Order: sequence, then structure tokens, then C-alpha cells
Amino acid sequence: MRIIPIASGKGGVGKSLIAANLGVALAQAGQRVVLADLDLGASNLHLVIGHQSPKSGIGTFLNDTKSDFNRIIAETDVPGLRFIPGDTEIPGLANLKPSQRNVLVRRFLALKSTTDVLIIDLGAGTHQSILDFFLLSGQGIIVTAPAVTAVLNAYVFLKNAVFRLMYTVFTKNTKAYVYLEQMRKEGSGPQKLYIPRILPEIQKIDPHSYEKFMLHINHLHPRLITNMLDDPKDAEVAMKIRRSCEEYLALRIEHLGVLYRDSFQDASLASRLPITLYKPQAVISQAIFRIADKILQSGEDEFALDDKEIDASFLEAGAEAEIDFETKMEYVEELLHSGAFTTGDLIETVKSQQFEVSKLKKENNFLKLKLSRALAQGFKF
Ligand SMILES: Nc1ncnc2c1ncn2[C@@H]1O[C@H](COP(=O)(O)OP(=O)(O)OP(=O)(O)O)[C@@H](O)[C@H]1O
Ligand SMILES: [Mg+2]
Repeated sequence: MRIIPIASGKGGVGKSLIAANLGVALAQAGQRVVLADLDLGASNLHLVIGHQSPKSGIGTFLNDTKSDFNRIIAETDVPGLRFIPGDTEIPGLANLKPSQRNVLVRRFLALKSTTDVLIIDLGAGTHQSILDFFLLSGQGIIVTAPAVTAVLNAYVFLKNAVFRLMYTVFTKNTKAYVYLEQMRKEGSGPQKLYIPRILPEIQKIDPHSYEKFMLHINHLHPRLITNMLDDPKDAEVAMKIRRSCEEYLALRIEHLGVLYRDSFQDASLASRLPITLYKPQAVISQAIFRIADKILQSGEDEFALDDKEIDASFLEAGAEAEIDFETKMEYVEELLHSGAFTTGDLIETVKSQQFEVSKLKKENNFLKLKLSRALAQGFKF
């Protein structure tokens, strides 16, 4: 079973949209898919896949972990796609106790006899249980938007994931664990620690823990999706995340693809259908089918990518960004010529963009402050 957790540092960047639509695309490609909403406390995946308000979900199960897990797995209208609702009653996944997390992980893993792909829609943020679910797989997806805050938070998420991995891999009281704890206590906590700098030290004092960690980190190559592009240039943020990951985290990421901001998405939400069903020919739907293909083409357990493959993934995503942009432009022209797009629509679009611009300007000052702090903590632009 392929496990695909979908995470982001920042909220609202499109995790649920991607989770739901990848679920549809993979099921349509003949996979037996389970889509789980783990954004407990803020679950809304049922709205994206158009499932009626769920009566039971992960929250209900966690109230009685002896109950039958299969009871909360619902069929959907898409053949091959099943759905595990979350729970809006539970305040935040962050509050999941380790025992609850462990029981959930066991139930998830037990799905493997009936499931080819398990997609887990995670909440935003870097809480421990979110990191643990992300680390369940070496092929987790990290979603970002081109906005600086989103990029920054995606990097911070990955940095926290690598440190969480260290803490999980190092056994308590080993020299490596003690060293890591000591660094943290000395005030050079995860925010300031650069993995490539501390690894040689760990290798020197505790070669066994070092080998164990290297084995795990070589199995971890998160896959980036850049969402909400307006322009092909927006895809360049992926390179910034890649460079920072390689330089400061010794982590190699792959670029799985780009998705443009698409006005059909609002209509698709309103009609309670995932966009891949609502408008399969839309640029964004086609991009999702393309990503689903890439996932299927890669091996289930294909971890250590070489430099050429990683370079190719970034080049390919960049080229796709150009192609999709041209296709979108053709659509606008066609809509204008056919009269489907009125001058009124255009004025509306310009107005909403002006609103966005003034909002962005306000955010800008706040960001400058946040950025200068982040730079001091090791984020590289
Ligand atoms: N490419 C896109 N084009 C247009 N709208 C989009 C796109 N991606 C996401 N959206 C919209 O942005 C909003 C946030 O998306 P979504 O809920 O999938 O994000 P999320 O990361 O799951 O958020 P949260 O952290 O709150 O769970 C939704 O209204 C969604 O329809
Ligand atoms: Mg969501």
C-alpha cells in the first residue's frame, strides 16, 4: 500500500483540494483508494469530495478505539474511492495523545489488504502528531503556494520533520540523543541547528545512531506541489525550497508538479463535486491527472532518487508551468471570443485582483519583519 500524507506549513494552500482530487484521479486509474481526513477539529474534506455531512468519523472512533474501524469507512460515488471522515468536534489534531496516534497508525496500516493507496489529508502546522503521520511514508506531499509565508512555512515544516525523525530514530540516552538534547537546551534548538553541520559530529560520537539516521533520511524524499500559480515564474519558489532543504537539512525533495489558480474551483466547491469530476478538462484537473500519473509511474518504495532524477523533476514541473499557462491564456481568449466571458466578468476580475494587491501590500510590512527573523534562523532565499 502506498501511503501519501499531504501536509503544508501554512493553512489554506490547497491540501484538501489536492487530497480529494488525487483520490478521484487515482481511483479512476484503477487504484483502490482510501482518503482519510486527519484535519481533526477543522475537518472539511467531506465538502470537497461532496460527501453528505458525516455521522461518524475518526473522532467517533477515537472515543472508543475498541470499536470497528471499518464502520467509519464510507463508500463514495466514485468507484474504488472510499472515505474516512474526520471530526469537527475534536479540537485540533495537536491534541491527539500518543496512544490515540498509535492506534490510528495501526488501523491505517491494517488497510493494506484492501487498499492500494491511502491518502491522508493533514491539518496545517507542525505539531508532533502531524509530523508523525507525515513521516509514515517516505513519499509525503508538501503543498505550498507561491506566497512567501507559504514557502517559508513549507520549509519550516520540512525542517521540523527532519528533526522529528532524528528524535524518533535516536534511542533515548544514546550519545546522539544526548547531544541533540544538549544542543536544544543550549538555545540552539531546531530553529538554528543545521543538519549538515551536526551530522559529522554525531557520526564521530555515535556512529551507530548516525547510520540509523542516514538509513531513514535516505528513505525520505518529500514531494512538492506548488499550488495557486498565476504565472510560470511562480514555480521558481520550488527551487528556493529545494536549495534550502539541500543546504540546511541534507534533505532531497522532488517537484511533483504545479497547479494554477483556477476560477472553476469555486464553482466546483459550490456544486459539491471535486474539480476532476466537475470539469475534468480544466487545466487544474489535467494537472492533477498528470500528478496522479507521476505517482503511479514511480515505484511504491522508490526512495533514493539520484541527482539527475531530481533535476529532471524540477525541469519538468517548470516546463509544465509554461504549457499550462499558455493553455489558460487560450481559454481566456476563447471565452472572450465566444462571448462566454463578458466585459462585466473582466471588470470583476480586475476589481478582485486590485483587492488582492492592496491586501498583499498590507501583508508585506508584516512579512518583512517575519522574514528578517527567518533569515536569522537559517532560511535561505
Ligand atoms: N488552484 C486553486 N485554484 C482556485 N482555488 C483554489 C486552488 N487551490 C485551493 N483553492 C481554494 O483555496 C481554499 C483553500 O483550499 P483547501 O481547503 O484545499 O486548503 P487546505 O490547505 O486544505 O486548507 P486548511 O489548512 O484550512 O485545511 C479553498 O477554498 C479552495 O477551493
Ligand atoms: Mg484542508
